[in-house]
Amino acid sequence: MNIGIDALGIATSCYALDLATLAEARGIDPLKYTQGLGQQQMSVAPPDEDIVTMAASAADAILSPEDKASIELVLFATESGIDQSKAAGIWVQHLIGLPKRCRIIELKQACYSATCALQMARYFVTAHPNKKALILASDIARYGLNTPGEPTQGCGAAAVLVSANPRLIALDPEYGLYADHVMDFWRPNYRDEALVDGHYSTRVYLSSLGHAWDHYVESSGRTFADHATFCYHLPFTRMAEKAHERLARHTKQQIPSEELLAQIEPSLSYARRIGNSYSASLYVGIASLLENGTIDLGGKRLGLFSYGSGCVAEFFSGVVQPTYQQALHSSRHNSMLNLRQKLNYHEYAELYQFQLPQDGSEAATPQHATSPFRLTGVKNHVRLYERLSESY
Ligand code: COA
Repeated sequence: MNIGIDALGIATSCYALDLATLAEARGIDPLKYTQGLGQQQMSVAPPDEDIVTMAASAADAILSPEDKASIELVLFATESGIDQSKAAGIWVQHLIGLPKRCRIIELKQACYSATCALQMARYFVTAHPNKKALILASDIARYGLNTPGEPTQGCGAAAVLVSANPRLIALDPEYGLYADHVMDFWRPNYRDEALVDGHYSTRVYLSSLGHAWDHYVESSGRTFADHATFCYHLPFTRMAEKAHERLARHTKQQIPSEELLAQIEPSLSYARRIGNSYSASLYVGIASLLENGTIDLGGKRLGLFSYGSGCVAEFFSGVVQPTYQQALHSSRHNSMLNLRQKLNYHEYAELYQFQLPQDGSEAATPQHATSPFRLTGVKNHVRLYERLSESY
């Protein structure tokens, strides 16, 4: 029995900042951001959009009433959580009407946790093939103003429905793991912005890829050539290009660099415009590949690499299903990205400074969101949400 990804939706915020605009404000050559980092834009979340509203928007649009009724497990992956105790997935359950007979929990391990969630969901569906599991990966990537990390911010969510006989990707059971205690990126509880040693993190990402790949090869016996293409975790798209070049060197491929980069290009197009969406980013990359690729991937195997600083990495794979194109949400995703409003630098800086009261006192958020869900404010320490419209 095949088990894997039956539906995949993504969502992001209603605003975008062109990195050329940021470069101008910072007095930096825009080519550093567009070529050096491979980023064109980053999504910026206004006060009334957060990990819950983005996850709810991503999920609601892909789930039929029958899907919702058969979900018994909701795993919310994030590293920008909104509560130290309550799982963000419970707000989503309430907003989009998921069953009350349901396990709901939040997972954290930097940008890796959605992949752990996917494997846990796979085991769950293996044991209960008539049930489905929903993975919500949602994050707001935030670094300090005027820091090297600033152009690699962004925000977004992915909703991944896992079932038996999936329409999109049947996951292979083999995987490769690598975990180590490294301090390349972390966010202590008292900080809103992550601390990151970016160059070190890039090196650990690449070495972890080699280790996870070696384990994957030991367990699967597959080679580089057994995969039609690859998707990588995307803190910025140039990182995936470096990863792909590294894997090709590691496995001694003789493929010209341009051909290598062309192999993964369709997986990068959404992330170039959204920026980093942390736990969601690999799944944003998979959506981008399936929805923007020019070749028919039906029946072909994808190599998938997930990396979460700190660190845990996993290499895994799956086979794209023959009729996958019928289960995609390409036009909705592309129009969502196209309809984002462009910010000027001052609007971005103002949104960056916004903070909800830190003492739980009552506050209403100004209305910016154009997505189906918004955070209306806080009252008695409780975050309040509303549905604005039907799904995208
Ligand atoms: N034109 C074209 N490319 C340029 C350029 C220009 N004018 N100026 C610089 N570049 C290139 C650099 O050569 C470099 O490319 P390379 O890595 O292929 O050599 C790239 O742009 C980035 O320049 P660099 O000086 O390394 O940038 P930085 O010191 O400001 O930091 C990061 C870059 C990614 C380390 C930083 O953005 C960061 O910390 N990001 C957050 C953490 C992160 O994303 N970690 C990744 C692992 S999960």
